[in-house]
Amino acid sequence: MDGFTLTHKQPTRKDFIDTADFDQSEMLDIITTARTVRDFIKSGGYLNSMYHKNLAMIFEQKSTRTRVSFEVAMEQLGGHALNLAPGAIQLGKHETIEDTARVLARMCDMIMSRVDRHESIEALAKYATVPVINGMSDKCHPTQGVGDMITIFDHFPAGKQMNQVKVIFVGDATQVCNTLCDMTTKMGMNFVHYGPQNHKIDDAVLLAGQQNAQRYGGSANWSDDPECLKGADFIYTDVWYGLYDKETPKEVYMADFYPKYQVNDQMMAATGNPQCKFMHCLPASRNEEVTDSVLDGANSVAWDEAENRLTAQRGLVLYFGGMAEVTLDYIKQQKEGQNR
Ligand code: CP
Repeated sequence: MDGFTLTHKQPTRKDFIDTADFDQSEMLDIITTARTVRDFIKSGGYLNSMYHKNLAMIFEQKSTRTRVSFEVAMEQLGGHALNLAPGAIQLGKHETIEDTARVLARMCDMIMSRVDRHESIEALAKYATVPVINGMSDKCHPTQGVGDMITIFDHFPAGKQMNQVKVIFVGDATQVCNTLCDMTTKMGMNFVHYGPQNHKIDDAVLLAGQQNAQRYGGSANWSDDPECLKGADFIYTDVWYGLYDKETPKEVYMADFYPKYQVNDQMMAATGNPQCKFMHCLPASRNEEVTDSVLDGANSVAWDEAENRLTAQRGLVLYFGGMAEVTLDYIKQQKEGQNR
């Protein structure tokens, strides 16, 4: 990979709803775009690829990272993002999601939305004539998955091939777990969900990961045996409660996960790999699913991972905005000019 050459000149789909909709080559195009643009901007480069382009951001839930990263990404690329926070627009009470999609598509160039139910993002994509990006649903978190794979590549274990890398998701099989299963196996890595049987990764998601593994190498498994931690290169976790199961008390989740599935120094040591990195999509419930010592420890890459949400969003808006190739060509020309 030279950082400038894409397999796909344009996206094969209008919308970015789920990483599972895309093959390895297309995910690598998005990641290549994102990393090259990051390096250019970090070295003082200026881009205007999204000049006069507007991104509508609809949030049915709170967000720090997703909201800020998309807003900053659009500003850094010369465009603008509109934050349509919960309760700020007619959606839900006076207007259907279909009509909201139709209207926003007449005024904006792209839509990103965080929704309670996956069907809502599918409806937005169906009725909007502009690209729609899923900023998290109850099924998957694809923009997180792009940032996570960039972080894994940034901290790739020295001397290993893709099919020698082991990524373990610990705890509740959240939408972040689903997307991590797809992304790691799509890159030919070995994925394990380590969690209790009653919070096991969805069979269909695991099967899709195993099908990826057949195509690209690697493997996908579930286990509640701590032996599976051995040899891990990355340990990843997410909060245990609070997003969708409002009726389920915190105590129920704590009883299911604590102490066995808390990521602490003992669990990191159980990998047998002193270089094993810790990842978390954040926000974290400190000293519940992860201890302070691990989250703030030397092997934590959680803050790089948070920053890579911005890296990912720049790549995504450029790619689905049809501006990836022209932007990479421009960066290449700038670099060649500097080397003359
Ligand atoms: N990880 C993540 O999506 O963070 P936010 O909920 O703050 O956007």
